Amino acid sequence: MCGIFGYVGSRINAGQMVIDGIKHLEYRGYDSWGVACKKDNEISVAKEIGKISGVNGEDFAFHSSQAIAHTRWATHGGVTELNAHPHLNEEGTIAVVHNGIIENYTELRDELKKKGHIFLSETDSEIIPHLIEEELTNTQDFASAVRRACQRFEGRYALLAMDSTSQTLVAARTGSPLIVGVSPQDGYFIASDIPAFMDYTRTVQYLDDGEMVVTDGKSILFTDIETGEERPKREIEITWTIEQAQKGDFEHYMLKEIMEQKDSIARAVNQDEDQILTLANAIRNARGTFLVGCGTAGKACMASEYFFSVIADHHVNFAPASEFKLYHHFLQPESLLIVVSQSGETADVLEAMKVAKSKGAKVLAIVNVEGSTIEREADYSLLINAGPERAVASTKALTGQLAVLMLIAYAMADKLKDGKTLLLETAAMINDMLNPRYIQRIQDIAELIKEKEDLYIIGKSWNYPMALESAIKIQEVSYIHAEGFAGGELKHGPIALIEEGTPCIALVGNDEVTTDILSNTIELKARGAHTIGVAPERSEAFDEWLKVPDAGTAQALVNIIPIQILSYFLAVKRGKNPDMPRNLAKSVTVK
Ligand code: F6R
Repeated sequence: MCGIFGYVGSRINAGQMVIDGIKHLEYRGYDSWGVACKKDNEISVAKEIGKISGVNGEDFAFHSSQAIAHTRWATHGGVTELNAHPHLNEEGTIAVVHNGIIENYTELRDELKKKGHIFLSETDSEIIPHLIEEELTNTQDFASAVRRACQRFEGRYALLAMDSTSQTLVAARTGSPLIVGVSPQDGYFIASDIPAFMDYTRTVQYLDDGEMVVTDGKSILFTDIETGEERPKREIEITWTIEQAQKGDFEHYMLKEIMEQKDSIARAVNQDEDQILTLANAIRNARGTFLVGCGTAGKACMASEYFFSVIADHHVNFAPASEFKLYHHFLQPESLLIVVSQSGETADVLEAMKVAKSKGAKVLAIVNVEGSTIEREADYSLLINAGPERAVASTKALTGQLAVLMLIAYAMADKLKDGKTLLLETAAMINDMLNPRYIQRIQDIAELIKEKEDLYIIGKSWNYPMALESAIKIQEVSYIHAEGFAGGELKHGPIALIEEGTPCIALVGNDEVTTDILSNTIELKARGAHTIGVAPERSEAFDEWLKVPDAGTAQALVNIIPIQILSYFLAVKRGKNPDMPRNLAKSVTVK
């Protein structure tokens, strides 16, 4: 996590540019921020605790054509100004911004301390400028010194470094994303994500793991960190627009992205049919298919266990990506790993891919961000085409993931056309559902339960992973203690938690488990729960009823939408910013 952004080129307001640009990366972390600008062979630095969105870029509008900036999600060391980036060497001649973790930093710091270096922060990052300084005793060339320093780092990181004398911006990555924006008239931009520089260019080049890049603003060179060999790069044009990545008239990204599901589900469904059939075949022919993802994406994988079972009569295995390492005994060259990730950068997912590849298994990635590491490193990939998702809480990516997984299950059952029709009808029903009256009804329920500190959600079949997902959504933005359960599990323990007035949400469909989940809801009501049914039909089991369309096997997509809206309004009504939940960041590039 953490966002980094740097620029070198012909523009003379570099400080203002990187400050304005890094505001677009605030979803990656927002504990503190900092900027370093080069001006007349001196580096000037500003850093503060808090969110960068409140900072006026014009305060940095002095003459400078080279700058780096950072927005932090703390890993090593608390949220203090000293721990904020950029970090510098003692003389202030080398500035570095860093995302990731240098795992061998203790050993390197001890070594540097013995050589007289003094450290001011508690971060692993601060060793980077000091080590570069140390390497400058072995080479005159700043870029070579950065390379030599990087060769000593262990862990996953992305960094930008500049010095006070050369007009050189150096970037390196191993495990965390970095993208170069290319503009013939302006120079080069290097950032953790594309929105940072989209006001200036839509032409990008991706750094791969183990690569570094050196630019003076006029030309650029990509090389392998270890060997120094040149790495040729393609220029790629970005197809989405900056407007898609902005809030528009909405107060928060989260609500904007929930509402975008009117269109994004249909975009996910309109896949190349031959590709879907090829993937369905790959699953059919695999000896063991495993699905992994984290958090919300993991819940999409878990729901697909039910999709593949009910629709395609086929067994697949879900594991949270962070647990998958322990499954390596089950993997063989004929196994298939399907990874699901919005960002395409999640460290635990990349780790799972590494495990599968080490056993010779093939990897299929279902991702949202085109050009992301997971997309590029997989053997096959499918994009869900949700468009940029900026709110930390994942919403439209989930329904895109569910749609694509269902489509593959239908293709396996030789019913791809039926699946497509059902999903497009579901998208149309969701479009109708997202009307102002419906949203007001959910707001009213949010008003009713906003002061509660505990909330439970139950579901069966694919509504069980959706109950778990509902809990994640409510927890992360409203900070209410929420938990999801399989309806049948209540009587084995959780029902003891129910008190008079405890809000309990039941996710219900119109299928073979409807009677069971309704009787679970009645069991809750009998213990005093205030029950809220999300269901196509009214039932005496519900104190409140949120009507949803009957979408058959696609019910999971429909049922999660009112919960996303409810989570949003619970956050707003409790005075929380749903786009920036405490302790979280959008893209989890650390293990
Ligand atoms: C919750 C949420 C997270 C992500 C998880 C995986 O709303 O957004 O749980 O789903 O961190 O991220 P991706 O999908 O980018 O791999």
